[in-house]
Amino acid sequence: MARPHRLTTDESLLPFDHGSKPKLKVAGFTPCYSTALGDAYCADGLDVLKAIPDASINAVITSPPYALHFKKEYGNAEKHDYVEWFLPFAAQIFRILTPDGSFVLNIGGSYNKGVPTRSLYHFKLLIALVEQTGFHLAQECFWFNPAKMPMPAEWVTVRRIRIKDGVEYVWWLSKTPWPKADNRAVLRRYSPDMERLNRKGVQRTTRPSGHNIKPSFSKLDPGGSIPPNIVEEELPADLLKFGNNAANDLYTERCKEAGVPIHPARFPAALPEFFIKLLTEEGDIVLDPFAGSNTTGAVAEKLYRRWIAVEKVEEYVRASRFRFG
Ligand SMILES: C[S@@+](CC[C@H](N)C(=O)[O-])C[C@H]1O[C@@H](n2cnc3c(N)ncnc32)[C@H](O)[C@@H]1O
Repeated sequence: MARPHRLTTDESLLPFDHGSKPKLKVAGFTPCYSTALGDAYCADGLDVLKAIPDASINAVITSPPYALHFKKEYGNAEKHDYVEWFLPFAAQIFRILTPDGSFVLNIGGSYNKGVPTRSLYHFKLLIALVEQTGFHLAQECFWFNPAKMPMPAEWVTVRRIRIKDGVEYVWWLSKTPWPKADNRAVLRRYSPDMERLNRKGVQRTTRPSGHNIKPSFSKLDPGGSIPPNIVEEELPADLLKFGNNAANDLYTERCKEAGVPIHPARFPAALPEFFIKLLTEEGDIVLDPFAGSNTTGAVAEKLYRRWIAVEKVEEYVRASRFRFG
């Protein structure tokens, strides 16, 4: 595969061998910038999706604007309009995915306006994606973000009648019931407890739950342990977890130096990294139609996947170049 991390706006300058897998050019759109493996477009995600051929994308990994009742700088669809707003994007994503492709959708929960109860909008969206668009729910996953703010302050820190939200939802959807996936690509280090158990071994027993534990239970896979459906950044234990900050250092430093706004709602590199490794292989194409600071594209490049990123706010697209050195 081509080597990552080279940036140019002029294709003819690229000294890379794209081999048998050239980049997928989107007809009618000119990239704002390009790298060896990807193109970043400043455009409406829906327009770009419509220009992409059927069954040509291996994975769509994205975090659209959430339906918050307070407006972020870039605007959010109101909760009751959210499903309706999103479904045209979903129909295009379904169309462009390969039959074994996956759609990974990161979406945050939210409170109903003025009362300490939760909105169901992200569950309604999930049901619509399956029952109307035709996606299959491969697995519901969660992003554990310990750096989330204790919001809404009124319920959490003032009246103390709700607890801090620590996770966001990640709906892993697929075009067929059999998306390409390999959990051996995302094995993790075993816990010290599991390693100790492995050294000591376990006796054959039946748990109160009825599960039979065989002596082979404690035999460790040399590759590591199969992760749960909770994605979090693996930081050294002695470091405080700073949510999505640590993974974005180069980007935030360069934005500060250049005096341009840092994107207000980035996800950590660990999130696309986990799903890109789980669901795609080198040379596959990953697309993010709500790319923001292009975390997805930068991770895809590092992992030798081709990528397409679309973001409608020009200053976010321009600043996202900083991720490529
Ligand atoms: C939650 S942010 C994505 C952040 C991104 N995952 C990152 O790590 O930087 C959602 C982004 O979608 C963009 N957006 C909203 N509507 C869009 C549309 N119709 N087409 C393209 N981008 C859109 C917003 O400007 C915003 O930057």
